[in-house]
Amino acid sequence: MNRLRDKVAIVTGASPNIGGAIARGFALEGARVVCTDVTDTAAKACAARVEEAGGEAFPVVGDVTDPDHAADVVERAEERWGRVDVLVNNAVWFNQKGLLTMPLAEYRRQLDVILGGAFLFTRAVAESMIRNGVAGSVINVLSTAAWQGQPGNIGYCTGKSGLVNFTRSAAMELAEHGIRVNGLTPTATLPEDPEILRRTAAPSATPGAWSMDFTGQLPMGRLPTPRDYVPAAVLLASDDAAMITGTNITVDGGATAKYWPWTPRAS
Ligand SMILES: NC(=O)c1ccc[n+]([C@@H]2O[C@H](COP(=O)([O-])OP(=O)(O)OC[C@H]3O[C@@H](n4cnc5c(N)ncnc54)[C@H](O)[C@@H]3O)[C@@H](O)[C@H]2O)c1
Repeated sequence: MNRLRDKVAIVTGASPNIGGAIARGFALEGARVVCTDVTDTAAKACAARVEEAGGEAFPVVGDVTDPDHAADVVERAEERWGRVDVLVNNAVWFNQKGLLTMPLAEYRRQLDVILGGAFLFTRAVAESMIRNGVAGSVINVLSTAAWQGQPGNIGYCTGKSGLVNFTRSAAMELAEHGIRVNGLTPTATLPEDPEILRRTAAPSATPGAWSMDFTGQLPMGRLPTPRDYVPAAVLLASDDAAMITGTNITVDGGATAKYWPWTPRAS
């Protein structure tokens, strides 16, 4: 409790899945949260969820690829609470398509959401932190697809792996200001939100042409839920992580550490 007391956090792409869970988790640790999303319903639902948990939040609707949106979010956070301490670059466009099937315009757009959005928000927030003398924390939500080659998901894999070195480079540049930048790597996630659960096909059903065995290959034997990511996000956001920068915390049930031919629990 209170590990983020009085901190001000911005979470982009604050859907009821991972972003919303992190926003709520931050609030339970004492943070005030700006929930942003390109959809009005997601941004408002996130703010309502934080308030239901006893925290303070407000929604801002906008597109992470729009420089004015990033500036607007930071300005409104400063107007309301005077500062920004934490940014979570979480917004994503999944758009699972392969090299042979992805229209160029969609590829460019997907990279813009993942990499352009992180660039604009990290820069706007870093400028605010420097201006206000805040030794803050930026968390880039990655994916196991940043570290492994998934077939049929070319834009996502490329964007997320780009974020790995964006994280390191931004961390080096901002270190002199005491600002930390880290990655958080989730993997295929079992939604907690009943509506998302209803809409989402079992992860093993995607993407069409390639057979995937998500739960069978996971050493820990179950898919993580959004709640499983919250402790790592809170740690990276908190002052306990004062000497953690330019790196990544993976919360994947052992997926990326696994020796590739081994099938857990097969014998
Ligand atoms: N769900 C998973 O299985 C999984 C696995 C690994 C990594 N991740 C990562 O976790 C993060 C959250 O995933 P999720 O499953 O909660 O996603 P989600 O689709 O539930 O939420 C993403 C949100 O981003 C918003 N968004 C999309 N384009 C936007 C834009 N241009 N500007 C602003 N907002 C925009 C969407 O409206 C949506 O609310 C993502 O970065 C994702 O890559 C998710």
